[in-house]
Amino acid sequence: MRRKLVVGNWKMNGSKTKNKSLLEDVVAGVRDLHNADYVVCVPYPYLGQAQSLLQGTNVAWGAQNLCATEDGALTGAVSPDMLVDYGCTHVIIGHSERRIQFHETDDTAATRFNVALKAGLTPIFCMGESREERESDWTEYVVGRQLDSIIRRFGADFLAKAVLAYEPLWAVGTGKPATPEQAQEVHSFIRGRIARCNAEVAENVRILYGGSVQPANASALFAMPDIDGGLVGRCSLDAKAFVDICKAACQHPMTA
Ligand code: PGA
Repeated sequence: MRRKLVVGNWKMNGSKTKNKSLLEDVVAGVRDLHNADYVVCVPYPYLGQAQSLLQGTNVAWGAQNLCATEDGALTGAVSPDMLVDYGCTHVIIGHSERRIQFHETDDTAATRFNVALKAGLTPIFCMGESREERESDWTEYVVGRQLDSIIRRFGADFLAKAVLAYEPLWAVGTGKPATPEQAQEVHSFIRGRIARCNAEVAENVRILYGGSVQPANASALFAMPDIDGGLVGRCSLDAKAFVDICKAACQHPMTA
């Protein structure tokens, strides 16, 4: 049985003042929602604020990236242990915005995935195809290649302690989500590919959908058999919208 998980990805948004009321409202809104898990991934400078406001609540916090090296002369980088020091439990790895705008590759994402696990963090590993790739019928090839970058290098067992996220690029930040059926088809493909290597891991790993998840579409997405929650960008900046998405997760508490 897989419990639903809703993760907020704030991206490069926030200010100390806005974050305080957003986090307080989210905490108050999900306090009594016991049937799912909740995480917010905030920009690095706000990890301390997240830690002080979320400690002792049912909302965990994490980061949106990390550096693959433990420490040393790497100006501007943030190490896995620094995230642990701030109480992070999760870290997003391989988001399409990092892959495209910061030239991250399957290989560097896989390296960071491994480093996150070693530090005791749960990587939230993102995969997804562009519009052109979907229109050329390459979705399974692209998503399969991204997934294989982990499986080939480390084995499917490594996925047991991770969370996966299917985030079609054509749906991220567009306000136009995949339909539940479109998302389910790819989620089922991902689970099936893992099952070829390790059926138990495939059965237990949580696969989130991300890409314009909103209160209006969350419940239909979360009702799908292979969709175990959401990775939420824009709507995670609005406490009411985010809490409504968390409520939708609680309507479908368990998958499989
Ligand atoms: P969105 O972002 O919800 O704004 O589409 C999702 C994401 O990029 O994780």
